[in-house]
Amino acid sequence: HNEEALYRPNFHFTPQKAWMNDPNGMFYYNGYYHLYFQYHPESNVWGPMHWGHAISTDMISWRELPIALYPDELGTIFSGSAVVDIGNTSGLGRTEKAAPVVAMYTSSKQLEGTDNWKQTQSIAYSNDEGKTFTKFEGNPVIDNDSLKDFRDPKVAWDEERNRWIMVLAAGDRIMFYESENLKNWKFLSDFGQGIGGHGGVWECPDFFKLPVNGGDDYKWVLFVSINPGGPNGGSATQYFIGDFDGTQFVMDPEFAEDLAKDHNYWIDFGKDNYAGVSWSNARRKDGSKLMLGWMSNWQYAQKVPTETWRSAMTVARKVQLKKDDNGYRLVSNPVKELEGYRSTKYKKEDLLISGETKIVDSKVITLSSTEIKFEISDFQTSAFTFKLSNQQGDMLLFGYDKTNNSFFIDRSKSGKIDFSEDFASKKTKAPRTSSNSTLTGTIILDKTSVELFYDQGETVMTEIFFPNAPYDTLSMIAGDEDFTINHIEIHKLNVN
Ligand code: FRU
Repeated sequence: HNEEALYRPNFHFTPQKAWMNDPNGMFYYNGYYHLYFQYHPESNVWGPMHWGHAISTDMISWRELPIALYPDELGTIFSGSAVVDIGNTSGLGRTEKAAPVVAMYTSSKQLEGTDNWKQTQSIAYSNDEGKTFTKFEGNPVIDNDSLKDFRDPKVAWDEERNRWIMVLAAGDRIMFYESENLKNWKFLSDFGQGIGGHGGVWECPDFFKLPVNGGDDYKWVLFVSINPGGPNGGSATQYFIGDFDGTQFVMDPEFAEDLAKDHNYWIDFGKDNYAGVSWSNARRKDGSKLMLGWMSNWQYAQKVPTETWRSAMTVARKVQLKKDDNGYRLVSNPVKELEGYRSTKYKKEDLLISGETKIVDSKVITLSSTEIKFEISDFQTSAFTFKLSNQQGDMLLFGYDKTNNSFFIDRSKSGKIDFSEDFASKKTKAPRTSSNSTLTGTIILDKTSVELFYDQGETVMTEIFFPNAPYDTLSMIAGDEDFTINHIEIHKLNVN
């Protein structure tokens, strides 16, 4: 039983050993993207949380570093964020002008003899660019005696008002705060009661502005992870688009109307992208933000068939805001750094798909470190299915079905599935929201994950799977009629 060979992702981040959940404290500084993560080093299930740490120069190839934050008398270290304090507003820099990295996280302490936690917010600072942290002696910086759920602070610099702003999750709403120095925090407002999905507790928010269609206008975007209550069960991340007057976040009226009609504003409709947040200090020139998420779901994350480590992160993604006749949409796509690892193995124009048609097998290209791009112009076909299969009879199916105008993933025969009832009992669905006559898709494959970006990232689906042997054949299956793929190219991704 060699789970390393079979299941350790080729290029998605995993810890060498033990349990991981949410990405934390992501920031960019001096050439390095930092990724901290919820980590339980003693076990392969969730437990007393630490912050593990990894770095990368391109968000694709990662190096794991020693644990950055350990539990203390205020509690274990739950999710949070980190910023580069460029002006040393905190005074925690080694010298007056130094820029410390300041992490803000939730100290979570189980109340003896109960299932409840006391959750307060703490900070820690680093004067070696995020390698080691010192806890601030005035912790907690935000105390709490009344709220059961009060966690996951995400801090950002508010350039319009020259101050820090922070959002955190408080059960059924997001609370907004401001600070001059990262140490003293003032409550501003809250948002969310009765708005959006409330099938579970709200967690891991993020709040930033994005240009609309890459232009001069911008809107504020609020990410809210929710567990359970995702569109396909378990955990998922919804978003809201609006305006912020410095105190209160208010949904854009058009967005609010669309949301009330049909809440299909999810960063990812697959079951395995949770708690995703953006890198701070890493905004791209085009105004886009960069993010990644935890590639699992609380429904079964602690039972997946890997023993040495548990969970991986999604591929890093660029997030943009689009507006057209169908209203606002967040779009996300793999970061362009991934393209640097490509070597092209297969390319075809006008490929006819008739019944089940084999496209490639592992003699042409490995299907576990792979990027596939395709385009169907004049998209009218009633259905199509991509099929990844192996000699064992395992298969992963994903595609499109016109009867409900939605994309799907079916992992019911994908390999090991019986570790959880919730893993493969239902097909995952995602509505096609774009009305473009051309359908484009990008498919990112690793040993145990597929990430689908349809319509330039307007509909995204991420899911994990555990085949009994590597998938070695990629085919496509037509619906009732044959159809033509106008362009398909397949790249090997040579990461590591
Ligand atoms: C989300 C979450 C956070 C919390 C952390 C604990 O997955 O529940 O709200 O801070 O995980 O590990």
